[in-house]
Amino acid sequence: LEATFFQHKEHGWINMFPIMVNSLVAQKHFVGRPTDVFVSSLPKSGTVWLKDLVCKITSRGGDLDNKNDLFSPHHKVPFLELQVYASEDNMLDIDSLPSPRLLSTHIPYPSLPASLINSGCPIVYIWRDPKAIFVSDWHFFNNIVPSKLGENIPTIEERFECFCNGYSKFGPYWDHVLGYWNAKKNGANILLIKYEDLTADPVVQLKALAEFLKLPFTEEEEKDNVIKDIVTACSFQMVKDSKMYESGVTKVLHRQIKNTMFLREGKTNDWENYLTPKMAERLDLITIQRFADTDLI
Ligand code: PPS
Repeated sequence: LEATFFQHKEHGWINMFPIMVNSLVAQKHFVGRPTDVFVSSLPKSGTVWLKDLVCKITSRGGDLDNKNDLFSPHHKVPFLELQVYASEDNMLDIDSLPSPRLLSTHIPYPSLPASLINSGCPIVYIWRDPKAIFVSDWHFFNNIVPSKLGENIPTIEERFECFCNGYSKFGPYWDHVLGYWNAKKNGANILLIKYEDLTADPVVQLKALAEFLKLPFTEEEEKDNVIKDIVTACSFQMVKDSKMYESGVTKVLHRQIKNTMFLREGKTNDWENYLTPKMAERLDLITIQRFADTDLI
């Protein structure tokens, strides 16, 4: 709540209220199934990449090539609070989806619908270096929001101050990651994947993901290069060259957002071009302090 009103009332940067209402509607109405598969994350953690990989794993045998696919992963794995419970006239009928239903959310773990948690369905959580998330989100925000703000566009320093103080969409970065990490530690059916690890060794991460989803790759598939084909099909460049990105849009709340907005650099170190060493040091220090008693660092 604090974050919402800070951003909304004092600065008027972004109105988080609809997302909060939608999340509450999801909490009340969503009925989970053990067969569901959830992709969870903070915005800009690599969600769309993970969605693509999950789609490819669960639909093995189908066409791995993204080139002629007009539907983006955001379409195939809709967000509960942004696309499913988005508005009365635009509710997706997820009850009629075949199993496994592939769904996604940015909602923090403690605020997830109880029915989702109680179903015990697999949740794959992707997380990323906060410096990269901050920079990615800053670009995204600048691309979709500013025209209405005129000269009130916040500077990178202002946004950075907010981020460090935990004023972010879906709550403070560190609490969000720790929420899922703690839940896993306490036995929840969660796999955590770090964007940087996925970049460094996509094959290892993809195998772990398939095993977690109880759909491990067979020796035959390995021989047939299925794993490598999936990694290639979901790689940044391949996706960027595909039709769904060239011309597609995703309806998020009441906005039509071009799919190209969800792909920018796809690198682990692009933040170096935007953050001063002092800013980077500050974020690193908070992360070291907040993740001190975990295996996250
Ligand atoms: S959102 O709005 O929450 O769905 O955004 P999200 O998908 O979580 O994050 C967007 C960033 O992920 C990068 N991205 C990728 N990186 C590598 N490979 C693939 N296939 C890929 N797809 C998306 C995207 O470029 C954004 O990061 P930045 O740093 O801005 O490039």
